[in-house]
Amino acid sequence: MKTIFSGIQPSGTLTLGNYLGAMKHFVDLQHENNCYFCIVDQHAITVPQEKLTLKKNIRSLAALYLAVGIDHNKSTLFIQSEVPAHAQLGWIMQCVSYIGELERMTQFKDKSAGKEGVSSALLTYPPLMAADILLYGTDIVPVGEDQKQHLELTRDLAERFNKKYNDIFTIPEVKIPKVGARIMSLTEPTKKMSKSNPNPKSFISMLDEEKTIIKKIKSAVTDSENEVRFDKENKPGVANLLSIYSLCTGESIDSLENKYVGKGYGDFKSDVAEAVVSVIKPIQERYYELIESEELDVILDHGAEKANKEAFKMLKKAERAMGLGRKRR
Ligand code: TYM
Repeated sequence: MKTIFSGIQPSGTLTLGNYLGAMKHFVDLQHENNCYFCIVDQHAITVPQEKLTLKKNIRSLAALYLAVGIDHNKSTLFIQSEVPAHAQLGWIMQCVSYIGELERMTQFKDKSAGKEGVSSALLTYPPLMAADILLYGTDIVPVGEDQKQHLELTRDLAERFNKKYNDIFTIPEVKIPKVGARIMSLTEPTKKMSKSNPNPKSFISMLDEEKTIIKKIKSAVTDSENEVRFDKENKPGVANLLSIYSLCTGESIDSLENKYVGKGYGDFKSDVAEAVVSVIKPIQERYYELIESEELDVILDHGAEKANKEAFKMLKKAERAMGLGRKRR
C-alpha cells in the first residue's frame, strides 16, 4: 500500500481541467492506497482573496471532492489551515530552499510578471507545497502537468534535508496522466484551462449549467480545416476537444477520429458537449445534496483530526533533526 497526497486550491470553482487532470484519478487511486486529499486554502491566499468568497470556495471544493467519488472511509479529506503542521514544516522547507531556485519556478514568473505588490508568499509557495507532501511520508503525488516543476523541487528539497540533517523524508514520485494532463482553454487552446482566468468562456466549471456547457463547447476555438484529427501543434483546439471527449467517454482518440471522418465540427462539438454533460450532471446532483449538509462538516472534522495526528509526528521528527526546541531526541 502506497501513501498518496494531492491538493487543490479553493481559488475559484473547480474546472473540467482540474477534474480530468487530477481529481478523476484520485478516485481510482483511493481503493488500494492510503490517500490524503487536501483543500489547500493557505496556498490560495498567496494572491488576494475576498473573505466570504474564499469561505464559500473552501466548502464548495470539499463537497466536490466527495461528489466526484472521494470516499471518506478510504481517504482522508481535510483543509490545510486546520492542520498547523503544514505552515510549520513550510517554514522549515523555506529555510532549506534557495531564492534562486524559487525565482526559477515558471508559475512564480507567470503570476508575478508585470505586477506590483506581489506577495512574498507567491515566491515561497513551493516550499509550503513540499511540506504538504513530505508531512505524510508520501510515495506518489497525482497532479496535472503544470505541477511537475514544483514536484521536482519538492524532491530536491527533501533530498537536501535528508542529506544535511537526517534521512526522514520519503522522496515522492509524481504521477501525471497520459491523456488530460493539460486540458487547454476553450478560447485560447495554446494556454491551459484555468479557474482563475477572468474570461468564463475559456473554462468549463464543474458547476456550470447544462446549457452553459453546451454553449461554451459549441463556441470553442478550433480551426478552419473542418477535419477532426488529433494534432496538438497545428490543431490545438480540436486536439483539446478530442482529449476531453476521450476522457469523458473512455473511447480512444483513434476511434473517435474514425467516427468523425467526413463529418464537420458541428456534429463533433455537439457530441463532446453531450459527453461532458453526462459526466458533470451526476456530480452536480451529489454536490447539491452535500453542500449544506452537516455530514460535510463531520467528514472534514474527522479528516483534520487524522491528518493532524500524522503530520505532527513528521513535524516533530524534522524539528528534532534540525535541533529546534529543547528535546534532545
Ligand atoms: P491547482 O489548484 O491549480 O490545480 C489542482 C490540480 O488540477 C490540475 N490542473 C490541471 N490538470 C489538467 N489540465 C488543466 N488545465 C489543469 N489545471 C489544473 C493541477 O495540476 C493540480 O493537480 N499547487 C497546486 C496545489 C497543491 C498541491 C500540493 C498539489 C498544493 N499543495 C501538494 C499536490 C501536492 C495547485 O495550485 O493546483
